[in-house]
Amino acid sequence: MSQKPSFDQVTLAAADKSVVLPVQAGTLGNPCIDIGRLPKETGCFTYDPGFGATASCKSAITYIDGDEGVLLYRGYPIEQLAAKSNFLEVAYLLMHGDLPTKGEFASFESDVTHHTMMHEAFKSFLGGFRHDAHPMAMLVGMLGSMASFYHNTLDLDDPEQRRMAAVRLIAKVPTIAAACYRHSIGWPLRYPRNNLEYVDRFLHMMFEVPAGPLELKPVAARALDLLFILHADHEQNASTSTVRLVGSTGANPYACVAAGVAALWGPAHGGANEAVLKMLAEIGDAKHVQSAVDKAKDKESGFRLMGFGHRVYKNFDPRAKIIREMCHEVLAELGVNDPMLEVAMRLEEAALKDDYFVQRKLYPNVDFYSGIIYKALGIPTEMFTVMFAIARTAGWVSHWLEQQEDPEARIGRPRQIYTGHAARDYAKP
Ligand code: ACO
Repeated sequence: MSQKPSFDQVTLAAADKSVVLPVQAGTLGNPCIDIGRLPKETGCFTYDPGFGATASCKSAITYIDGDEGVLLYRGYPIEQLAAKSNFLEVAYLLMHGDLPTKGEFASFESDVTHHTMMHEAFKSFLGGFRHDAHPMAMLVGMLGSMASFYHNTLDLDDPEQRRMAAVRLIAKVPTIAAACYRHSIGWPLRYPRNNLEYVDRFLHMMFEVPAGPLELKPVAARALDLLFILHADHEQNASTSTVRLVGSTGANPYACVAAGVAALWGPAHGGANEAVLKMLAEIGDAKHVQSAVDKAKDKESGFRLMGFGHRVYKNFDPRAKIIREMCHEVLAELGVNDPMLEVAMRLEEAALKDDYFVQRKLYPNVDFYSGIIYKALGIPTEMFTVMFAIARTAGWVSHWLEQQEDPEARIGRPRQIYTGHAARDYAKP
């Protein structure tokens, strides 16, 4: 893992001016040059499209070492959490900073469980969506509307109201997500059954029909719980940064999380799991794998291997390794023989030995195998990114809570290099 730097300042020199900039270091990770006084002292801003070299905040939640393939939540390696914890405990850990005692966990679980219901008025709101609306479109809208139901408890200066908003979001997002799905297939909504645990409850809300009981193999809840743990947080990714940017304006947490869901939707981010399955279906057969790899290498084609590459990981995404194993276990236990798995394995194999992918350090990411598991659990493709959103809600609310207490937090307001016209006089063409 990266070490602390041996220097604590750098000097930037241009023409006859020089400016000394302090270097800040966290407990782990790359040192950061603090450029706060650069504009004042030199008149220059910095240019960093996509913020690939910019730390936007200090955070104690998640650490990634992309070169080594390391992911820590609050210091705990993802492999240990995947093997020993559960999603709700991980949500507590992300929010509070430490693993809960038995009593703390029981109280958190009870809080979450008692906030799983939606206001009845949500039903008529949901009914306004076309039956074939994409569930992500519904989720963004439904979450954005939540502030209208809880506007009396939105005093952001009150730590307890902030905590409760976070708990409400963790509790209600699965209920809303399942409701969106059922609306899209014309099934009656299912109320949450609070005698079940978090993931089981969600699966019942998704699949239970009034006509008969739902029989689930234990591997289904185990696999989903694992996927939720692995997707729960990933430091300042696009959707979390969106949550923080919206949060920096003092907007309410429901609006912030709705904005995070919108950012997650894109195929370069959370939408990739849906895109992976579409891609595997299009490839169709292991014998077409090499031509897909060749197409991905051809810049003219505009085609990329979905589920490959990552802004931060230049090594195996540690989550992909865990999911790959679970994928085999789920298919075996559920007795599913999915030809997509064969295509995925051949594709991974072909890409990993191809110079183009090796040189660019493009490895399978978290989304490469998750879609195959979701499919085996009976979750339709359009719901894949929604599943990601349920898990990531734990991370989003944790970052929002951290930001609310950060004494250095300011409204997010990037600058630009203006490339338009210089000032010109109005004249009709
Ligand atoms: N297939 C083919 N080539 C790729 C791929 C890919 N999946 N990903 C990156 N490359 C190539 C680029 O064309 C570029 O090549 P060049 O140097 O010859 O121009 C080089 O690798 C670097 O790529 P960038 O786009 O600069 O990398 P960036 O960090 O900006 O993008 C991203 C990362 C968006 C994840 C990218 O790898 C991608 O589009 N992957 C496919 C979509 C995907 O799986 N997204 C999920 C990410 S994980 C998550 O959000 C949960």
